[in-house]
Amino acid sequence: MPPKQPSLLDLKSFTQSKIREFFSVVERLKTEKPQGQLHGQTIALLFFEASTRTRMSFETAAYRIGLGPVLLDAGMKSSLEKGESIEDSILNVAAMGHAFLVIRCADQIDLQAIAQRIQPIVINAGWGAKGHPTQALLDVFTMHEKLGDLAGKKVVFLGDIRHSRVAASHFEILSNLGAEMILCSPDEYLPDQHPCRVIQDLPQAVAQADVLMALRCQFERHESKKYQSAKEEYRKKFGLNLQSIRGLKKSALIMHPGPVNHGIEIETEVMSHPQCQILAQVANGVIVREAILRLYLEGKMK
Ligand code: CP
Repeated sequence: MPPKQPSLLDLKSFTQSKIREFFSVVERLKTEKPQGQLHGQTIALLFFEASTRTRMSFETAAYRIGLGPVLLDAGMKSSLEKGESIEDSILNVAAMGHAFLVIRCADQIDLQAIAQRIQPIVINAGWGAKGHPTQALLDVFTMHEKLGDLAGKKVVFLGDIRHSRVAASHFEILSNLGAEMILCSPDEYLPDQHPCRVIQDLPQAVAQADVLMALRCQFERHESKKYQSAKEEYRKKFGLNLQSIRGLKKSALIMHPGPVNHGIEIETEVMSHPQCQILAQVANGVIVREAILRLYLEGKMK
């Protein structure tokens, strides 16, 4: 049996050359027709937290390459209801012989330890606030597709960076591509430690951006009142609307990983702005996830 390829839990191994190779696979796939059956191999999607984009794009990518997707969703009737732990659920599904487990779960689950213990390849589909590597890959692919080489480009992250697993994965990958990550948010939404420039004046940050990446205010992760910036106050100072993006370069991209809080971090009018890439991100999400699955199946995910 060939050596097991590493799980995809973070992006620390994605050097510039690995990212470039990955982009060329995604570009090729965008022009190819979906391919056939994979001899009954299956992929289990275990979503212990809610998802629309990630779950359905993995499911779609799996169908496109003939990999049978099976689903365990926290909202379904399952033995979670009878008190079975998430760890036991993962170990039991792993015992069913799937090629991959795509898992979304809370920070408290030790995915690293579980991934080492089981045979299927584990793909992090959103792990608490620790990371969301496939989202960051589809984001950087979308940036690269629209802007070309990202070296020297300024990517402004706007909003609840502290609680964002998407931002956490971008911290691992954007600097490898030579891009600068700039943070724009109120103090309470900044991470305790980070290596980035902070610009808290929205018009100044907007004017510098090659990419303006708005993040969802993660109200469900705000355990303490200190994070509860009044929504109206936040919207006034940091919300994206046609007025607040007036200074944006014509070549700059407006992005958001979704789901969007309309009228908090972004107004609906911005979603149909010609520079807005939100649905392009979703479309690329399918192809990027297909590329990841194919690279694993070809034994090339070293
Ligand atoms: N961006 C993202 O992870 O969306 P979902 O929560 O819908 O999967």
